[in-house]
Amino acid sequence: MLGTGQDRRSFLKFLAASPLLASIPLPERALAQATSLQGVDALIANTADGLDVFDFEAVAARNIPPAHWGYLQTGVDGDETLRANREAFAQYQLRERRMVDVSKMDMGVELFGARYDSPIFMCPLGAQKAFHPEAEVAVARAAKVKNQLQVLSTVASLPIEDVARARVDPLWFQLYPTNSLDVSIKLAKRAEAAGCPVMMVTVDLTVGRNTETATRFLRTDTRQCTSCHSPRGSDNRTRAMFSGIDMSNVGFLSPSLSWDFIGTMKDATRMKVLIKGLETGEDAALAVKYGADGVVVSNHGGRASETGRGTLECLPEVVSAVKGRIPVLVDGGVRRGTDALKALALGATAVGIGRPYIWGLGAFGQPGVERVLGLLNNELRLAMAGVGARNVKEITPKALIRKA
Ligand SMILES: Cc1cc2nc3c(=O)[nH]c(=O)nc-3n(C[C@H](O)[C@H](O)[C@H](O)COP(=O)(O)O)c2cc1C
Repeated sequence: MLGTGQDRRSFLKFLAASPLLASIPLPERALAQATSLQGVDALIANTADGLDVFDFEAVAARNIPPAHWGYLQTGVDGDETLRANREAFAQYQLRERRMVDVSKMDMGVELFGARYDSPIFMCPLGAQKAFHPEAEVAVARAAKVKNQLQVLSTVASLPIEDVARARVDPLWFQLYPTNSLDVSIKLAKRAEAAGCPVMMVTVDLTVGRNTETATRFLRTDTRQCTSCHSPRGSDNRTRAMFSGIDMSNVGFLSPSLSWDFIGTMKDATRMKVLIKGLETGEDAALAVKYGADGVVVSNHGGRASETGRGTLECLPEVVSAVKGRIPVLVDGGVRRGTDALKALALGATAVGIGRPYIWGLGAFGQPGVERVLGLLNNELRLAMAGVGARNVKEITPKALIRKA
């Protein structure tokens, strides 16, 4: 976990800000406090001081209540897959090219007819009021300023219509199927009416999960949270997207989900239908066969099942099975522009971030999200120039070398 200086630095910053500090063994605690006191790793006071996404993580750790912080940071079981997502990027190094004229750079990408200024997009993350009162609307405003893609979760805190208004240009919708086809169709119709051109169907969370780290944090939190859910606890079926739908007999999970669901959804809506949460070449081939318009290689940020496999490790087999027929997006563990470059070089069309933009949101609201996007974009621009790529299409596998 603390393999690199960067990881260690951010971990120490996290410790210094963490309510769990008191339960941490003395030497680590002393070190965390010492680095913090020296001011070198002091928490940033404004967005401009943030030099990387980890600066925002530390401030968010201070601002966000423990139970919500645990919900954000958790993986499943022992968080192996969460770590594997990060570690996969370290398996590749960049091959620098010199004397390429990179005075004019274009980081834009086109996705289903819309142009975005960066291939980095914001993944669907539920219940964002848990991190900031302005939640998904603040994220939408930042997405608008940066002209970057935002995908709204089924379990968003705020109504899709409000978020779409703040985004101005269309956002995408993410669908959790539930066990009711009728509910899925109603959700899809509502997203379509709100102007969404694309829907991602998340298929990696159909049977439940064991979010151990979240539970441990929850135990330390004695507050009664009423800002984002009822005092009885969080129930996804009460989220804004389900208002007006009778959810009393609907199960949130969908263990019987099958490939036919994609065709059914395509018949029910004019939106493009992507599948989010694939990890294998076999499933990617099936996605094409069943008519998906795109796939997202994802393991839910290491929070669905404990495969121990980073998404960057899964990406090549998916790209090879898809054979260029539909776009392949990827997310999981992207914390640097160089990470995004590595994914693009391995064949991704666009690269998603989850937790980092929420760190920006939790730290400073909309300006924090903007700064996180800006930092990652700038890192990507520098990495692209380094490998001699003037635009996203010029990022090829030749930009990478696998560590021996
Ligand atoms: C707090 C949290 C909530 C999430 N909620 C959703 C969700 O509602 N729908 C979904 O498809 N994925 C959800 N995800 C997964 C993200 O869309 C994305 O796959 C993941 O966060 C990417 O990994 P990263 O956080 O390491 O960047 C969530 C992830 C987190 C951390």
